[in-house]
Amino acid sequence: MNILSVNSATIKKAAGILQSGGLVAFPTETVYGLGGDATNDLAVAAIFSAKGRPQFNPLIVHVSNIAMAQQFVIWNGWAEKLAAQFCPGPLTFILPRLPGSKISLLASAGGDTIGIRIPAHPVARQLLVEANLPIAAPSANRSGRVSPTAAQHVYEELGDVVPMILDGGGCNVGIESTVIDLSGDEIILLRPGIITREQIEECLGIKISTLDDVSGVLKSPGLLASHYAPSLPVRLNVVKPNSDEAYLAFGPDVPAGAKKVLNLSPVANLKEAAARLFSGLRELDNMQEYSAIAVMPIPDTGIGIAINDRLRRAEKR
Ligand code: TXA
Ligand code: MG
Repeated sequence: MNILSVNSATIKKAAGILQSGGLVAFPTETVYGLGGDATNDLAVAAIFSAKGRPQFNPLIVHVSNIAMAQQFVIWNGWAEKLAAQFCPGPLTFILPRLPGSKISLLASAGGDTIGIRIPAHPVARQLLVEANLPIAAPSANRSGRVSPTAAQHVYEELGDVVPMILDGGGCNVGIESTVIDLSGDEIILLRPGIITREQIEECLGIKISTLDDVSGVLKSPGLLASHYAPSLPVRLNVVKPNSDEAYLAFGPDVPAGAKKVLNLSPVANLKEAAARLFSGLRELDNMQEYSAIAVMPIPDTGIGIAINDRLRRAEKR
């Protein structure tokens, strides 16, 4: 079995695997990542192949701190402001590649920008320090599937393809990082997350755009494809579930009728719902005895925007 619990020996071993070009799955505060040395073309190629991910879709590069980020990207004042408030944490910056940057071109899909993130999870941080490398890490699921928020989910996705899955327990954020493009004249929110548009606007003191505002440009390739797809059909905003459906509910007032109910947050807390979203979808999907997963309406404000974003992608198969 390749799932190992975290201690100083397993972290050292994982760092050694990364340094020799191998892959390691590890926990972050958002979801589990499938990590490889971001400066090693072969390691990066192995990530794409393990996930079955199209090579036009760039990977996020994880670093320990701002100084390390500055070795690879052209840092700027917006990044500085956001990092002061939100890093380490669930926020990814898209910034111009620094000339001479050692990050594999494959990791950034040949583009002139790099997605960079300083994770907060202690295991991710220890691994970065021990390996002393920038770690390219997409979510540790097969391409197009629901992101893993537990070591066991990674095993369900990738099995023994990865030599080691570091088990750091459940991920407390539960949905992937907010992705913000700081590389151009206009700041664009590419992927909503637990750090919301409002928080970013407040921090920067300006209005920012979302992908809906900037039409015509393929800004973030990975965001356009259908994603997060369970094998069962997903129906959104359902107030009357059918008797053969599993019902993903939210809040205290759950309509009756479904064969099975899984409540993301009985107290209607969006943060709690985000943390349970992917494990909830996975749990219902694994049972395979329902005709569909019906989802109760979830408020489309704050963190609810990120939750609904992931649910809409799950619906589109
Ligand atoms: O929370 C997270 O971000 C997790 C953990 C493991 O850190 N990682 C993650 O990676 O979600 P991934 O590969 O599943 O999603 C990365 C997203 C993709 O939609 C990709 O297209 C976008 O970030 N992205 C990465 N680099 C980019 C770049 N240079 N320009 C535009 N979009 C980029
Ligand atoms: Mg992903």
